Amino acid sequence: MRRGWTAALAISLAGVLTATACGGSGGEDAEGSVEVFSWWTGGGEAAGLDALIERFEADNAGIAFNNAAVAGGSGTNAQGVLESRLQANEPPDSFQGHAGAELMDYIEAGYLEPLTEFYAEQGLNEVFPPELLEQITLDGEIYSVPVNIHRSNVLWYNPGVLEEAGVEPPTTLAEFEDALATVEEETDAIPLSLGAQWTADHLLESILLASLGTEGYNALWQPGADWSTPEVTEALETFDRIYAYTNTDAGAADWQEASQAVVDGDAAFNIMGDWALSLFQEVGAVEGEDYGYVPTPGTDGTYLWLSDSFTLPVNAPNPEGAQAWLELVSSQEGQDIFNPLKGSIPARTDADASLYEGYLADALTDWQESTMAPSYQHGAAANNRQKSGINDAVGVYIRDGDVAALQEALVTAAGEAG
Ligand code: GAL
Repeated sequence: MRRGWTAALAISLAGVLTATACGGSGGEDAEGSVEVFSWWTGGGEAAGLDALIERFEADNAGIAFNNAAVAGGSGTNAQGVLESRLQANEPPDSFQGHAGAELMDYIEAGYLEPLTEFYAEQGLNEVFPPELLEQITLDGEIYSVPVNIHRSNVLWYNPGVLEEAGVEPPTTLAEFEDALATVEEETDAIPLSLGAQWTADHLLESILLASLGTEGYNALWQPGADWSTPEVTEALETFDRIYAYTNTDAGAADWQEASQAVVDGDAAFNIMGDWALSLFQEVGAVEGEDYGYVPTPGTDGTYLWLSDSFTLPVNAPNPEGAQAWLELVSSQEGQDIFNPLKGSIPARTDADASLYEGYLADALTDWQESTMAPSYQHGAAANNRQKSGINDAVGVYIRDGDVAALQEALVTAAGEAG
């Protein structure tokens, strides 16, 4: 059984925080091993984490780093493994959790220690955007350290395939549908590449945003939201038409294969979060030649955001080691090591902008200038119950292709969100 906030841990954590307040680094004092849980393995996922681990090991000679990453894009496998471990009271020392509704689930389940004192001691309250801090705060306590901001609504395209088809990068949903039809007629490329089922959910959030507009999309995540409206029907019908242009063997692969198909010229378009950039960098793809990018058509000016954050679980075996890890991921230096490799921008507001080039330079500007909409597939908008209801609904849609049934199931998922 999971235990609550124990007195013993309270004392040990207070000790850690005091040591830090006196100027000692958690890293220098801490020993043993630190187990950090995420789903960042393999192409386009691991480079940023590996660079952080290298830095951590250089700064913390006494602590062995135990990388407990579980493969599977969007945490599809990792999140189940994590939940079992948390329920069995066998937490890692720190785990990746999305800022927003997903983190609130963990907090409300009693899995997380507050990091409010850590924030005060490290001077972190001033370096994160207040709106982001709200996403990780409950009853006045802050519960995680955001390491980045990712953008979900990016349309990656292959310039050569678009040229062959004679289409321009689309900016509206209508243009997008026309472009997909033209690519299908004029080329051998897959019009829109997809991978594992979660990438269809990822596509759906972009289409909902494009079709409903930012206000309409954001309203879907308010308590009591109505998913039975004609506007949602229209959005789902658009999704259905667009989905028809995807590869039929999609479910066999994860996101990497779907994004790779764009730079290889096997697909014209892929809607994927900007972690795809990390994969493109790894395989030496060149912007302008092998790939281009625009916001998902119909969503220009809106950042469909998500944020990876790290936590201190209740009963973490090595809270001092966890704190050393959190110090690194919360620092300007740590964020600037991680994000240029991860394909994301720092959650901190004081990044060294010169390190962010090409797509990432645009992302830094867009993040400042855009309206915000939270991603549901990546934990910002929907709690785990609603997200899993949506994922089940999309799974049935992929099998049966029934749009009315999809809408009904989404209405049910919203009603069960609690
Ligand atoms: C997201 C996560 C990203 C990236 C992506 C693909 O949920 O926040 O950092 O890893 O999944 O796996």
